Amino acid sequence: MKRRSLLGLAGLGLLGGWALRPSDHGQPYSPYFATLNQLLRRENPGVPLLVVDLERLDQNAELLAQQLGARLPLRLVAKSLAATGLLDYLAKKLDTQRFMVFHQPQINQLAQSFPQADLLLGKPLPSAAALHFYQQLPPASAFDPPRQLTWLIDSPARLGQYAELAKALNQPLQIAFEIDIGLARGGFADPAALAAALSWLRDTPTLLRVRGLMGYDAQLAHTPFWVTQNVAFTQSTARYRSFIAAAEQFPGLWPQQPLLNGAGSLTYALHAKGDSALNEVSVGSALLKPSDFDTDLLSAQQPALWVASPVLKVLPGQLPFLDSGYSLLQGWNRNRQQNYYLYGGQWPAEPLSPSGLSYDPLYGRSANQERLIGSASTGLHVDDWVFLRPQRSEGLFELFNQLVLLRNGRLVGSWAAHNRA
Ligand SMILES: Cc1ncc(COP(=O)(O)O)c(C=O)c1O
Repeated sequence: MKRRSLLGLAGLGLLGGWALRPSDHGQPYSPYFATLNQLLRRENPGVPLLVVDLERLDQNAELLAQQLGARLPLRLVAKSLAATGLLDYLAKKLDTQRFMVFHQPQINQLAQSFPQADLLLGKPLPSAAALHFYQQLPPASAFDPPRQLTWLIDSPARLGQYAELAKALNQPLQIAFEIDIGLARGGFADPAALAAALSWLRDTPTLLRVRGLMGYDAQLAHTPFWVTQNVAFTQSTARYRSFIAAAEQFPGLWPQQPLLNGAGSLTYALHAKGDSALNEVSVGSALLKPSDFDTDLLSAQQPALWVASPVLKVLPGQLPFLDSGYSLLQGWNRNRQQNYYLYGGQWPAEPLSPSGLSYDPLYGRSANQERLIGSASTGLHVDDWVFLRPQRSEGLFELFNQLVLLRNGRLVGSWAAHNRA
């Protein structure tokens, strides 16, 4: 009796376990990616590609323009859109020549490609990097740094270093102060600290010219459960205004029309619909909407960027050293039926289409031939293309050298990516 009930329990356990068996997640391409797969099978260089959907990019840009209206001018975040062709396209479409830059070689690239641009640093750079910018700027350049470039100052020490740099270069340098309005990523911590820096500037003859403030507020996208986003926005805005009030105590230094920069893809919508202290917002990633930007505030934007890679091999599922043991695993999980090997890999991206493909945690990742597992229901063959959705656009373009442009189901050109060096 006892033994029978034990057996019964074991049987129930097995049945229950079987009920927990993963379903077959594999599905063929959606129509969008089926068309793209056919297109890439016909015309492609046979290597992994980064594809930008220009129709979706246009829609995202139009939506952004609508949200910002004339009230909040736009500064394009160059690190998230790091290709001159893309920046040029968006600058024209969105009618801006303002760019936010984060890397010294990119400042030189932008100064050359956009000689009319207004460049603002998005992070404070060592003054040695700033010096390199001036050394690498061709003497005949139409770009005029004292008017068109603004360095970011986060501390009294950096203020002193940039004052020295301006003296060594014997030319005026524009600066903006990085202020901490809740992100806890450095910058002047409170209005008194900013006032102290401005007092030093008032009392010290330098070639520095104050342009304004930069206060980034990405923390608003990640509020803990005890804080509501709107309340946090009101608080960070009040904090921004308290820095402005402190700066206004220095009328000789503080410009009549200061630059009040802030926000980013994750938060510009709060500024667009709320009471903002800013007179411009920075936006980059939202225009391509990689998956780190799947937030409520960006729900109307569409993903416009894919990693595409040809399938090199389709093999029956297997793992080294497991031999027949693997068929048990496979019987249990049909999503281990096949192994698909891609050309390249280890991108910051998740497999998207055909659906039901995933990385194999038991096998690991590879930058050379990435292995994906999936069921035969994906219908994937050698020379088909797998599409992955990037998590972010920052730091991604340089892995591919170029962006391939898709419009109306056709490949219509390419844009070279900025290189990192
Ligand atoms: C200072 C600053 N502003 C704005 C942004 C927003 O960039 P994105 O719109 O690409 O998220 C960032 C991103 O890191 C940033 O550091």
